[in-house]
Amino acid sequence: MNRHSPFSSSLRSPFSVSMRGYGTMRRIAVSLTKGGVGKTTTAVTLAHGLALRGRKVLLVDCDTLGQAGPLLGLSPTVGLADLLSGNLPPDKAIVEARKNLDLLAGGRALDDARRAIDRDGPGGVLTLRRALEPVEPKYDYVIHDTSPGYDSLTVNALFHADDVLIPVSMAALSVKGLLDFAHRIKKTGAHDPSVGTLYILPSFLNEGLQHSMDIYDLLQTYFSKQLCQPIRSSAHILEASGHGKTIFEYAPDSQGAHDYKSLVDRIERGTPGRR
Ligand SMILES: Nc1ncnc2c1ncn2[C@@H]1O[C@H](COP(=O)(O)OP(=O)(O)O)[C@@H](O)[C@H]1O
Ligand SMILES: [Mg+2]
Repeated sequence: MNRHSPFSSSLRSPFSVSMRGYGTMRRIAVSLTKGGVGKTTTAVTLAHGLALRGRKVLLVDCDTLGQAGPLLGLSPTVGLADLLSGNLPPDKAIVEARKNLDLLAGGRALDDARRAIDRDGPGGVLTLRRALEPVEPKYDYVIHDTSPGYDSLTVNALFHADDVLIPVSMAALSVKGLLDFAHRIKKTGAHDPSVGTLYILPSFLNEGLQHSMDIYDLLQTYFSKQLCQPIRSSAHILEASGHGKTIFEYAPDSQGAHDYKSLVDRIERGTPGRR
């Protein structure tokens, strides 16, 4: 790890050591405190990319905006809030989104779940982990999409995840957001570096813009080991979202699909037991 990286000395969580890292199943939280950096697009596209390679994937939308469903052309009436409240068992709360890809949808109903977690105090950080435990054996990957900010559902997703994938758009405010997020992760001990990997994903890269390339260079300098191949700005990716399709369905031969395939490769390579 680069010695200048703000991630280099994460604190350990009191919960993290004994409960993580069993089997080859991987839990990945796609997260950053800043919005509009490509978190939901990345969570959905990565989940679908892995599913297309025959991996069994559960996509968990922890955001009250609930945009993962619409990006897949779905508007489920059930989801994560039903599971967390105990209203529905996992098999009724989860919907099939694509072959090998299941979805626990987010949405406004998660507001109540968030308040319930807040009322539980420090022990509340394990709520999501406990709720997902019974279904995890069915999957190779559990991928969380998280909301901007650092609410209790995001913290739950981070405590559940082995790996954290952080999309950072090529804007100064996103880099600031990355540093802020790194600070919060350290402070709360929400990531265990002995078990999981932090991936930084440059997003919205525009190779024709000096400012964009300068920020990419900066990330390369400070986060060389954690850095993934960038996702470039792409009209196809934007259009795909409006059609409820992933880039692999909407424009499988496009640059956007190529960029996301590289990410799927990187995540598969990083999975213990699959090297
Ligand atoms: N590589 C990209 N190129 C162009 N548009 C993108 C790209 N990635 C995401 N978008 C679009 O940018 C917007 C914000 O992306 P989103 O994934 O919702 O970000 P977040 O979840 O971080 O708020 C969406 O309209 C999405 O379709
Ligand atoms: Mg989002």
